[in-house]
Formats: sequence, structure tokens, C-alpha cells
Amino acid sequence: MDTFVINGGNPLRGTLRINGSKNACLPLMAACLLTDEPVTLVDVPNLSDIRNMMRLLAALGVDLELVEHGEQNTVTLTVTDTAEHTAHYDIVKTMRAGICVLGPMLAKRGEARVSMPGGCAIGDRPVDLHLRGLEALGAEIELDAGDIITKAPITAGSQTRRLVGNTIFLGGPNGSTVLGTANVMCAAALAEGETVIECAACEPEIADLANMLNKMGAKIEGAGSPRLTIQGVEKLHGVTHQVIPDRIEAGTYAIAGAMLDSDITLTNYPTDFLMALHDRLDRTGVSMNIDSTNNDGSSEYDTVRIQRPEQLTPTQIVTQPHPGFPTDLQAQMMAMLCLANGNSLITEKIYQDRFLHVAELARMGAQLKRSGPSVMVAGIPEFIGAPVMASDLRASAGLVLAGLAAKGTTTINRVYHLDRGYEKMELALQKLGADIQRIDDRG
Ligand code: EPU
Repeated sequence: MDTFVINGGNPLRGTLRINGSKNACLPLMAACLLTDEPVTLVDVPNLSDIRNMMRLLAALGVDLELVEHGEQNTVTLTVTDTAEHTAHYDIVKTMRAGICVLGPMLAKRGEARVSMPGGCAIGDRPVDLHLRGLEALGAEIELDAGDIITKAPITAGSQTRRLVGNTIFLGGPNGSTVLGTANVMCAAALAEGETVIECAACEPEIADLANMLNKMGAKIEGAGSPRLTIQGVEKLHGVTHQVIPDRIEAGTYAIAGAMLDSDITLTNYPTDFLMALHDRLDRTGVSMNIDSTNNDGSSEYDTVRIQRPEQLTPTQIVTQPHPGFPTDLQAQMMAMLCLANGNSLITEKIYQDRFLHVAELARMGAQLKRSGPSVMVAGIPEFIGAPVMASDLRASAGLVLAGLAAKGTTTINRVYHLDRGYEKMELALQKLGADIQRIDDRG
């Protein structure tokens, strides 16, 4: 298992390009199961979750071709064999997003067996809303040996199986569901008749999926809003699609720029996806210079320069579904607010136990007091380097930021969590001048 060793305190200077979005790519890749023609995705990040999705799709009869293309990898996915209907536990357990194949496979192949994803470090992650949505489209659903077994109804007068459109409410106790919306939207794209999804997830990754499906011939309206209307079609065709930039990678590096001695410029930066973060950074006194005009022509996104204020002002954060403050930036923001001049309050409303970083940040001198879903953050003058343990992807990113700011050396164990969501993070940070090394602790 690899470890990061960080000697904190180096100033960060320079430019980074934001990669394509992991959380957009995973359902986009799964959507290749909806067509017999090739689906080509441009700007696919090189991450372990993406490689696991490739393994899963290969096992489901998808031929994959990866072309490394400067800063942007391209993956072409073509279904060549539709006999397999089972997504096995050995792959799904490595990556919860394996559930993304359920809706597309059920819609196209008429049946799907997908291992029920387990919980993970950030808490229980049920899939009841995914199943309720598919059931509303007529799917029969049963559980057997830890697997979800689904079948579309047999169409009257034929032996084929096809889902049937319906009106579905996808809200749960914590708002909508991102991957649940992806699954039901993909399934409805090939269903007979009209589907309306109320309380659909509004995340940019869902809008990106809807945009790609529409380019494939789907009829989806309302992408990015809580009401999706989908007219089912009989067939979808192939497509080439540019993946949106990763708003969480962008936000993580923006927070690095806001809390460290730095002068960082980020390109391919999705400003519109990060309004809630910018609102909070503004409250803390961080200045962001956003340039939408000087793009090199290859991107419709922005170039952003971030500068830390003399002193960070404390603030309140409440995580919410998009366009609210993203839970996936909560740990990084907590690291930053530790260095503010006073008390901040962070409330987690999506995953109420997503606080594994609290005890690790405390090892670095943070003054944190948790009460249920909230953490009171009392500002400290500086972090003190320490050995800490990465526990989940975003908690690990928070620890890296704290390590970069800390006095002394921080070692972060189990950085495989980071490799799930940040492409070569240590190389990106080295490029900016950070003293960060990856050590293989097996020697
Ligand atoms: N929920 C239910 N029932 C369901 C599904 C979800 O009650 O059937 C609840 C969850 O427990 C949670 C809330 O609804 O409280 C939202 O969960 P959601 O289904 O939206 O999460 P997800 O789709 O499984 C995606 C991202 C996560 C991100 C969440 C929330 C991917 C691959 N994953 O997960 O990303 O935190 O949306 O924005 O897109 C990460 O990248 O680090 C990560 C965890």
C-alpha cells in the first residue's frame, strides 16, 4: 500500500488543468450498454474507479479501447456480446458505482443481475430509490444471494422484454439520488412511452448524461432540473462525447489555493458547477479571478486564479444536493476552515457520518467538536505534521491539504483511496512546487 510523505509549507505556484469528471464518466461508460454502436468518451481520467468500471463492462461483453491523447484520454466502448447479465460481487464491491450498469442493462437486455453494493466508509448507502424507480417502469425485482435480480415485463404479443414509462418520485430522506436518477433515466430512455422523474438529481453529471443520451437519439427534457421528461425510443445509436470537467477535483485545488501560500491558476475550470463553493470562499475572504474569455479554444470552461487572503474569515457550511454545497468538498473545506480566524460550523446533510477525517485532522492539531451531523471548527494558527490514515476518497484529500499547510512532515497511509478520484495527485502538486512523495511501503 502506498503512502504520501508531505513536507508542508512550500508555496504553490503555477497552472493545473482540471481533468474530466470521474462521477460523470462512470454512468456515461455504463450507458454504452444501451446501444450496439461504439460510444467514445473524450477526457476520461486515469483513475482506479474508471479502470474498475472498464473491468466490469468487459465482463459484460463490452470491447474497450483506450487511447492516450496528450492530457485527454479517449475510451471507446462497443458492446460485442449481450449474453452476460450478471455484474458480480468481486467487481461491484470495489466500486459502488458498479450499480450504474443496472438500469442500462435491464433496459437493453431485458434482464440484469447486479450484486448489491455494500456500505462504505462514509456510511450506509442504500439503493432502495434505484429499485423503486425501476419497479415503477414495470421491472420485476427480487434479491437472491446478495444480488439484485431484475426483469423487464414481456411486451404483449411478443416475446421481447421492455420497460414501460411511468411517473416516478425519486426523492429520499436526504434529497434526490444521483446514481439512482442516472439508472432510471437510462432505463426510461428505451422504455415504451413517457416517463416523468420528479425530484430528479440536478447534478451536472446527470445533465451531462442526459446530453449524451440525447445525442444518441434519446428524448430527454429538463436535464439539470428536478423534473425530467423522457419519451422512450426503440433504439439508441453511437456517439462521441466530451466529458465535463471534474467539479470536485476543481474545488479541491481551488481550496488548496485558498488556504495555502499560493498563486494557482486552474484551467478547464467549471465555474458554473461550483457556485456554492464560490459563495463560501467569498465569505472567507478568498479572491477568485475568473476569466471566461482567454480559453485556448479547446474548452468552453474557464481559467481561474485563486488567492488566499491575509486571514481567512470563519463561516458556516451545510452540505446539500446540487446546487447546494457538495458533500464531496466537505472534508477539504474543513481542513481550510481549521486555519480561519475563529469558529466555523459544518453540517453534513447527505452522509451524516462522513466525518472520518475529524479524528485524523485532530492528530494534526485541529480543534474540532462533533455533535451529530455538525462539527464546530475552532481556528488554529497552523497544523502540525503527523502520521495519519486515509479513510475515504474525499477525507484523504482533506488530509493532503492539511499536510501541505502543516509545519513539519505528514505521512498519509492508504492513499489508494485518493487514486480512486484524483489523477496522479502527487505529480499535480509537485508540479506546483509541493514537497510530496509517494512511497511504496512494501519497499
Ligand atoms: N439514498 C437513499 N436511497 C437510495 C440512494 C441514495 O436513501 O436508493 C440516499 C443516500 O444515502 C444519501 C443520498 O440519498 O444520503 C444521496 O445519495 P446518492 O444516491 O445521490 O449518492 P450516489 O449517487 O451513490 C454520488 C457520487 C458520490 C456523491 C453523491 C452525493 C458517484 C459515483 N458518486 O453517489 O461521490 O457523494 O452522489 O453527491 O457519482 C465521491 O466522489 O467521493 C462520492 C462519494
